[in-house]
Amino acid sequence: MEIQNFTNTFLDGIEPGNKVLDLGAGEGKFAQMFLDCGATVTAVDMKPPAFQDPALIVKKIKIEDFCASEEGEQYDLVFARNVIQFLDKSWVYETLFSWIDKHLVKGGIIAIETFYQDPEPAFAHPMRSLWTLPELTSFLMNETQLYAKELYAKQFDHIGFDMSGQTRKFFVTSLIAQKIN
Ligand SMILES: C[S@@+](CC[C@H](N)C(=O)[O-])C[C@H]1O[C@@H](n2cnc3c(N)ncnc32)[C@H](O)[C@@H]1O
Repeated sequence: MEIQNFTNTFLDGIEPGNKVLDLGAGEGKFAQMFLDCGATVTAVDMKPPAFQDPALIVKKIKIEDFCASEEGEQYDLVFARNVIQFLDKSWVYETLFSWIDKHLVKGGIIAIETFYQDPEPAFAHPMRSLWTLPELTSFLMNETQLYAKELYAKQFDHIGFDMSGQTRKFFVTSLIAQKIN
């Protein structure tokens, strides 16, 4: 239920014509929902969505390389669900978050859902980085002072299926915030 609330809170923030950046879009399940809201969606993934849509811009590239190459574009909303745990923590802190700040409009929305603990049973490879809600909140809301308005914040566990259909317990951190500066 919490996952649904995270998604719905984000969907509520989309207006037709908005530009949404979906980092780690995967097969594009969420990108499709953003398209259905009338947004133009840029989907970034090493294995990006295979479907086509006039309002879908597919970037088959590593997020790290996308951020290094993408200069001028501005987005109204940034969505990063189940992806930052696969990225290097210091890179996320030092590069990704400041890249997002530069490319997100004033009043724009950032939505991050990730893990604060490896799932149980754990995957063969442990997560590259883990994120507690206090850690994410304190960095984005307090340290950068960029995101003053917290629209959704939750740390919870739930039992669900992974991408291969195996049941696991997931330990989830979710934060949606609005940029004010
Ligand atoms: C667990 S899936 C999540 C997909 C989707 N966001 C969702 O919530 O269903 C993680 C996705 O991140 C992508 N990914 C992981 N590390 C990446 C990286 N460094 N650059 C680009 N994509 C990456 C994977 O290819 C995969 O599609």
